[in-house]
Amino acid sequence: MTFEGLNLDLTEEHLAVQQAARDFAQTELLPGVIERDDKEYFPEELVRKMGELGFLGMMVSPEYGGGGMDTISYVLAMEELSKIDASASVMVSVNNSLVCYGLEAYGTEEQKQKYLVPLATGTTIGAFALSEPEAGSDATSQHTTAEDMGDYYLLNGTKNWITNGGRASTYLVMAQTHPALGHKGINCLIVERGMEGFQIGKKEQKLGIRGSDTHSLMFTDVKVPKENRIGADGFGFKFAMNTLNGGRIGIAAQALGIASGAYELAVKYSKERKSFGKPISEHQAIQFKLSDMATQIEAARLLCFKAALDKDNHRDYVKSAAMAKLFCSQVAMDTTVEAVQVHGGYGFVKEFHVERLMRDAKITQIYEGTSEIQKMVIAREILR
Ligand code: CAA
Repeated sequence: MTFEGLNLDLTEEHLAVQQAARDFAQTELLPGVIERDDKEYFPEELVRKMGELGFLGMMVSPEYGGGGMDTISYVLAMEELSKIDASASVMVSVNNSLVCYGLEAYGTEEQKQKYLVPLATGTTIGAFALSEPEAGSDATSQHTTAEDMGDYYLLNGTKNWITNGGRASTYLVMAQTHPALGHKGINCLIVERGMEGFQIGKKEQKLGIRGSDTHSLMFTDVKVPKENRIGADGFGFKFAMNTLNGGRIGIAAQALGIASGAYELAVKYSKERKSFGKPISEHQAIQFKLSDMATQIEAARLLCFKAALDKDNHRDYVKSAAMAKLFCSQVAMDTTVEAVQVHGGYGFVKEFHVERLMRDAKITQIYEGTSEIQKMVIAREILR
């Protein structure tokens, strides 16, 4: 393992991004976060503000309207946003890591001008449609078909659990064109909201990240122009995998933020709450919990930074991204459960925020590849 380039001192630019995300989270996301979770919505006004502040296209080159920032900056921003509202940060993550990155890395100049520029500036929102009712972890088994009709593809099928599904304008949809070729027959097509035959399905009611917008999508004989295919014929599965590698760094940072948000609340509460005649922070039972949380979070942050640095320094980051996501999501689960415990009965009620963070933590072990998938990816890298 190399630690080349692992400088733990953040630059002034990094600190400025971190502070901007912290300020936005405190002033704009915190008020109303409980209500948004309760009512399962996220207002357009907040999406617009995130776009104006540059959170939706942080890593996109300025040439295409983005912030031109590195992955470390992205991780720092994701952590701060996720401490307060993981429903907001998943939108940031999908738009940046999956949709903008995918278009910038593999799209044509025309595709970038038409789709990436509005996505990077937050004028439009993107969604990434890989999962299907019968193809979640087993993503090579795409049932959605993209039949080659000469000038266009005829798209048919259903996608499930699509983040930003109801509010996106640009959808990157994986579909099978050459079934005999298996995953090498899959294409990624850029589908626009409003194309004939494209229907947005039901909104999912979820355990966590309830403010985020998760839908199924239905395609019935949708004619997608050939120029909307990303990359060469049959590149779609590789496209999805390569894009998800970076996405996993974003979700690792989201998990890190959920954990550190819960930890900070637990520390604060432990100093305020008294029992047996003293603040509970003076009881060793609580100190042990806080020490464990702090240690786990520090280790999670290092793994996150390692993956981000690998990506920024153009090293292979498949394994480090999977390791970061695997570990950070476990830390998010463990830390939030303990933060609820530190709060006792108050932890079980909404006003104290930790129960929401505990519910939000679970999805980080599921989307962009379950923990079991991360272990498969890591094992493949170790053993090949
Ligand atoms: N990076 C690059 N390429 C990869 C890769 C990775 N991490 N993982 C697999 N591949 C490539 C392999 O190299 C192989 O390519 P070649 O044939 O050219 O060698 C190809 O993909 C197929 O790989 P396998 O033979 O290993 O196929 P498999 O079926 O045994 O395993 C898998 C594939 C790794 C399990 C894959 O299906 C996978 O990652 N599944 C999880 C899917 C996922 O993360 N879904 C998330 C949905 S998106 C989402 O959640 C967004 C959101 O809304 C928040």
